[in-house]
Amino acid sequence: MATASAFAGLSSVLCISGTFPANILCQFHTGHRDSHTGAGSPPVVISCGSLSFPPNGNKIGTLTVYGATAIFTCNSGYTLVGSHVRECLANGLWSGPETRCLAITCGHPGNPAHGLTNGSEFNLNDVVNFTCSPGYLLQGASRAQCRSNGQWSSPLPTCRAHGSRLGEEFKAKSLLRFSCEMGYQLRGSAERTCLLNGSWSGLQPVCEAVSCGNPGTPAHGRIVSSDGVLFSSSVVYACWDGYRTSGLTTRHCTANGTWTGTAPDCTLISCGDPGTLANRIQFGTNFTFNKTVSYQCNPGYTMEPATSPTIRCTKDSTWNHSKPTCKGDNLSIKKFSPM
Ligand SMILES: *[C@@H]1O[C@H](CO)[C@@H](O)[C@H](O)[C@H]1NC(C)=O
Ligand SMILES: *[C@@H]1O[C@H](CO)[C@@H](O)[C@H](O)[C@H]1NC(C)=O
Ligand SMILES: *[C@@H]1O[C@H](CO)[C@@H](O)[C@H](O)[C@H]1NC(C)=O
Ligand SMILES: *[C@@H]1O[C@H](CO)[C@@H](O)[C@H](O)[C@H]1NC(C)=O
Ligand SMILES: *[C@@H]1O[C@H](CO)[C@@H](O)[C@H](O)[C@H]1NC(C)=O
Ligand SMILES: *[C@@H]1O[C@H](CO)[C@@H](O)[C@H](O)[C@H]1NC(C)=O
Ligand SMILES: *[C@@H]1O[C@H](CO)[C@@H](O)[C@H](O)[C@H]1NC(C)=O
Ligand SMILES: *[C@@H]1O[C@H](CO)[C@@H](O)[C@H](O)[C@H]1NC(C)=O
Repeated sequence: MATASAFAGLSSVLCISGTFPANILCQFHTGHRDSHTGAGSPPVVISCGSLSFPPNGNKIGTLTVYGATAIFTCNSGYTLVGSHVRECLANGLWSGPETRCLAITCGHPGNPAHGLTNGSEFNLNDVVNFTCSPGYLLQGASRAQCRSNGQWSSPLPTCRAHGSRLGEEFKAKSLLRFSCEMGYQLRGSAERTCLLNGSWSGLQPVCEAVSCGNPGTPAHGRIVSSDGVLFSSSVVYACWDGYRTSGLTTRHCTANGTWTGTAPDCTLISCGDPGTLANRIQFGTNFTFNKTVSYQCNPGYTMEPATSPTIRCTKDSTWNHSKPTCKGDNLSIKKFSPM
């Protein structure tokens, strides 16, 4: 802040009329500078006065003299309205309109017909969840987030009923019939009559998805994914390591409450007998997954290749490498052959 003494030596200080309040420079006002007198003219000090921070924002730049600039930013969640940059002009005023930081808000998105929007905050990044009344299926996004443009990330979903109503007359003795679409069961009254006292008989029906129940797990297998047991759900199976199935691994819940197909039959993988060969001994009689068979050559024979005496059954039902062979040793054979 300038003080009075800082300007004590000046014969004249220009004070531009402006809106700044009680600016100390004005107390030194002695008259207007003569722009024609040139070099001998006293210095001119112009101040625009200090600018305050916008609420929920920030200001960069503290100078208030002619030519000074102030840059404004808003805190996250707020959008800047007005000037991003203001400059102190020769007329002693800051350029541009005032800067304001307004909270980014999307407002309540409304409720879907036959549904509800759950959420109490509707500002930037807030999330609302959409749900449908019982008996109605949500179509569209089940949640939305308030974006920086003040719009929700997705539109309201629609809640679709799984049934229909027959009858458009609502006067005394009128009859309404309700039915559900395939895969849905009616709970409540299938028929309702308008009574003489102005109320409807029975209970308002809802259409509930048929349940197929637990599809079960096969022996030597497991469920790898499932989205429920109601109509149109599916379940995916897989066999344990070392087991395989030739059947389908996916089942669907049908409209009549049964799962398609059967749970897969998981059978142990087998590579089969690798076969015997002369001049060697075989160890191992189980040829199923991950089991090994080892070989040893009879005396007088050498194994080829010498480093692979053991083979292992892989998940592809094949041995991990071909079985070794036993080659006759010329010297040994000679030794044992009659002379
Ligand atoms: C909606 O929110 C309320 C509380 O805010 C909670 O009690 C209710 O379970 C919510 N409903 C759903 C469907 O998420
Ligand atoms: C919306 O649902 C999510 C999970 O599905 C939950 O964490 C969040 O609290 C819910 N919000 C409201 C407002 O119900
Ligand atoms: C209308 O009449 C029915 C039976 O006749 C009764 O069960 C019902 O409660 C009545 N409703 C009202 C609103 O009076
Ligand atoms: C259920 O529906 C399937 C076809 O969707 C059909 O093949 C099967 O026979 C039906 N089962 C019963 C018990 O109606
Ligand atoms: C092979 O081993 C498996 C278990 O590792 C066993 O279930 C199977 O009965 C065995 N087969 C024979 C022929 O021994
Ligand atoms: C195969 O057998 C070995 C032991 O011989 C065991 O360490 C390994 O875990 C088994 N692998 C599988 C996939 O069962
Ligand atoms: C096959 O499996 C056996 C036993 O696990 C092992 O000693 C041998 O190195 C394997 N061969 C190859 C080619 O991986
Ligand atoms: C035995 O020795 C002969 C030469 O002495 C050689 O040609 C032959 O390949 C050998 N046989 C084996 C099985 O090593």
